[in-house]
Amino acid sequence: MVFALSLTNVFSSTLPMRGAEIAKSWDHLYWFLVLMSLFFLLIVVGSMVFFAIRYNKDRNPIADKNKGNHLIEIIWTVVPTILVMGLFVWGYVVYKKMVEVPFNAYEVRAIGKQWMWQFQYDTGRMEINKLYVPVNQPVKVILSSDDVLHSFFIPNFRVKKDVVPGMYTYVWFEATVPGEHDLFCAEYCGTSHSGMIGKVVALEPDDWKAFLKGKKIELPASQDSQEGNLKLTSLADKGKELSKLKGCVACHSADGTAGVGPTYKGLYGHDVELADGSTVKVDDNYLRESIENPQAKIVKGFNPVMPTFKGLLSEEEMNALMAYIKSLK
Ligand code: CUA
Repeated sequence: MVFALSLTNVFSSTLPMRGAEIAKSWDHLYWFLVLMSLFFLLIVVGSMVFFAIRYNKDRNPIADKNKGNHLIEIIWTVVPTILVMGLFVWGYVVYKKMVEVPFNAYEVRAIGKQWMWQFQYDTGRMEINKLYVPVNQPVKVILSSDDVLHSFFIPNFRVKKDVVPGMYTYVWFEATVPGEHDLFCAEYCGTSHSGMIGKVVALEPDDWKAFLKGKKIELPASQDSQEGNLKLTSLADKGKELSKLKGCVACHSADGTAGVGPTYKGLYGHDVELADGSTVKVDDNYLRESIENPQAKIVKGFNPVMPTFKGLLSEEEMNALMAYIKSLK
């Protein structure tokens, strides 16, 4: 009993607090692996020590001839096979949970840059090093990098993902504990890598609603601006503005009419047929590729005339364009 209690203490104190839905299944798998390794370590080392003493040279001057034992061989083949196959299935189930984003997840865009985290909300709100999320609601964080490789790591939520220049990656989680949780960069990214830290703040429903409307969470009421609210332009509207500014609208319409290039309307999330006969699903990474390397995948019926916009859009602008195109689905 006492042993069981102290074991529970060991379990709960050696890992970070469980702040998200996935943490429990993650922890169970982790502890199973640790205990299983410990069990076999004891068996292997224990029998090694036992045999070394029991059958040493003094006790057994003449070596014995052992012709093998089928039963033992079957046991040590079958048992580990069942165990590792079981672990594979168990790991797969947890992994599947970690990569399959619930359809109702709230989306936030995060940009890693030397050396900070920048968060963009659909409402147009932007935060530095503080990621506000609702509690008890799935959240998807779309990750991209402004410069080098970073890694987005929230220990309490058991999520960690590389943030790779030139592409989008993501994590999703459902925070269960309101309040602040540590956020780290877990990939060495230059001199101030260790300073690339932030907080995830899980907000109760009312605070979350106020946050989305633009309420300043940080400042006490007295320090707030007159209205106490930020003036926000939605990310999609910023993207719309940008599509005019950068000249996208010259070839891509937003109302479904055909132009030199495909229309934005009804594009996101759908399959499009390419010139080579294959199809591709339109998601963030496909759109990004089409902006940076337009000749990579030409949509059937269009000419490869688009110039590259690589290096001409910042990560923030790229995200705004994504939000805009997505809003036209
Ligand atoms: Cu960014 Cu380390």
